[in-house]
Amino acid sequence: MRIAIIGSGPAGFYAAEALLKRTDTPVDVDVFDRLPTPYGLVRGGVAPDHQKIKSVARVFATTAARPSFRFLGNVQLGRDVTVEELRRHYHQIVFATGNESDRRLGIPGEGISRCTPATVFVGWYNGHPDYRNAKIDLSIPRVAVVGNGNVALDVARILLRTRAELEKTDIAAHALEALVHSRVQEVFVLGRRGPAQAAFTPGELKELGELEVADPIVDPADLDEEAVVGEEANKGNLDLLRAYAARSPRPGAKRLHLRFLVSPTEVVAESSGGVAGLALERNRLEARPDGSVVARGTGRVEVLDVGMVLPAVGFAAERIPGVPFDEKARIIANVDGRVVDPATRAVVPNEYVVGWARSGPQGLIGEHKRASALVVAHMVADGAGLDARPLPPREAIDALLRERGVKLVSFRDWKQLDDVEVARGARRGAPRDKIVDVEAMLAILSPEG
Ligand SMILES: Cc1cc2nc3c(=O)[nH]c(=O)nc-3n(C[C@H](O)[C@H](O)[C@H](O)COP(=O)(O)OP(=O)(O)OC[C@H]3O[C@@H](n4cnc5c(N)ncnc54)[C@H](O)[C@@H]3O)c2cc1C
Ligand SMILES: NC(=O)c1ccc[n+]([C@@H]2O[C@H](COP(=O)([O-])OP(=O)(O)OC[C@H]3O[C@@H](n4cnc5c(N)ncnc54)[C@H](OP(=O)(O)O)[C@@H]3O)[C@@H](O)[C@H]2O)c1
Repeated sequence: MRIAIIGSGPAGFYAAEALLKRTDTPVDVDVFDRLPTPYGLVRGGVAPDHQKIKSVARVFATTAARPSFRFLGNVQLGRDVTVEELRRHYHQIVFATGNESDRRLGIPGEGISRCTPATVFVGWYNGHPDYRNAKIDLSIPRVAVVGNGNVALDVARILLRTRAELEKTDIAAHALEALVHSRVQEVFVLGRRGPAQAAFTPGELKELGELEVADPIVDPADLDEEAVVGEEANKGNLDLLRAYAARSPRPGAKRLHLRFLVSPTEVVAESSGGVAGLALERNRLEARPDGSVVARGTGRVEVLDVGMVLPAVGFAAERIPGVPFDEKARIIANVDGRVVDPATRAVVPNEYVVGWARSGPQGLIGEHKRASALVVAHMVADGAGLDARPLPPREAIDALLRERGVKLVSFRDWKQLDDVEVARGARRGAPRDKIVDVEAMLAILSPEG
């Protein structure tokens, strides 16, 4: 059996692991990624000051060391190869392409300069090649981060960390340089619902109270009876928020305001085109009969004086040519990991989807292990007899790609890049100093061009 997995993030790697551990039939697994580097958001999303989480890459490297595994980096499905071609070369295909675009606020002014979606800002500080040249202007003193998830907290924390806190991490060198010279003094993290509805987790909230030169600030009025509906579910967060509300900030410290019950209604532009402020409508909470709690606008509006807005309100899958797309959920159309036609819901044979491309942008890295294994169980159940179909030789796909001028990057090549990054990082006492440019990566692998 020969299987292609498209995407080398956690979901793709956990699917590869489950497939390679099969004992019923030998399986060859080719994992493709559009980048020359593996691991998806473990490299390009997880915050640089959370190095421990990134150690999961070692587990993935063990999978990559299995003899029937291959990594084909620098190959983009929909650009370098089509789904139709993959069907000819593989018995089954697994899409593990994640959620690479942002959800939008859908308010006036969202596209102006210094209103920067989380994907761009996170990709920029993590050295994702797509965002290495993003224009991030940190010459303004106040920033609004919209959203109450862990990504919002990542972004706020990174904006307020010091050089000493950042330089020992694998933050991209260009971002380190810019953040060291940043003039940002105050960050406002804005939740549209109340503190009991915040999606961030206590461990991440606790970290905000331990920053070297910044203090969390919570208005006690945001924790009164009217604002706190559904306390039981979120006691960990509420205890921390109450402790922050009772704390006096250190004189001269930078400030990280956690505000609730406000929805942005417009990004206000200055005459030169950048952000001059963020209009916010005050909300009240409404408990529904089904137990859910929704925010309702009160009509009371204020303008927050900020020069930058970073929406961190979730992600969506990118549409890939030839791959059925669910427009409403903004994921690859599927039922339980089996790809389906979005209109008829008919199963597309031998095609599967795992990870955020399957379920949307929720959940932690470790959760993909079980979820990908469940989809692999469907693949096993559906796949009986498929291996009787003769395929072209395994390397025929490489030849096809090379003919097109694609410079393939193998796992061995990646290890070479890994060594270079680790050696560069050692100079600043960091775990690595990332190479952020695909051309530079390819030049290292093939100096003669
Ligand atoms: C900013 C951020 C921080 C996070 N921090 C944490 C954390 O600290 N701890 C935690 O447990 N979870 C964290 N998460 C969640 C975690 O990263 C996700 O659950 C997980 O990465 C999703 O895995 P995935 O494999 O579905 O997608 P991804 O990790 O996004 O991998 C998708 C892969 O597909 C590739 N790809 C996309 N399109 C194509 C194409 N057309 N052709 C070829 N390849 C393609 C991409 O290059 C990428 O490598 C974070 C998420 C974000 C956004
Ligand atoms: N350290 C970590 O472990 C870590 C770090 C980063 C990410 N992650 C994980 O990765 C996943 C994605 O994180 P995430 O932060 O992107 O998503 P998330 O947890 O779903 O949070 C999204 C936030 O955006 C808000 N939001 C959505 N639309 C909005 C709008 N129009 N206006 C205002 N606010 C809006 C949501 O509010 P409502 O609740 O009101 O909809 C929610 O607070 C999560 O599972 C997260 O835990 C983990």
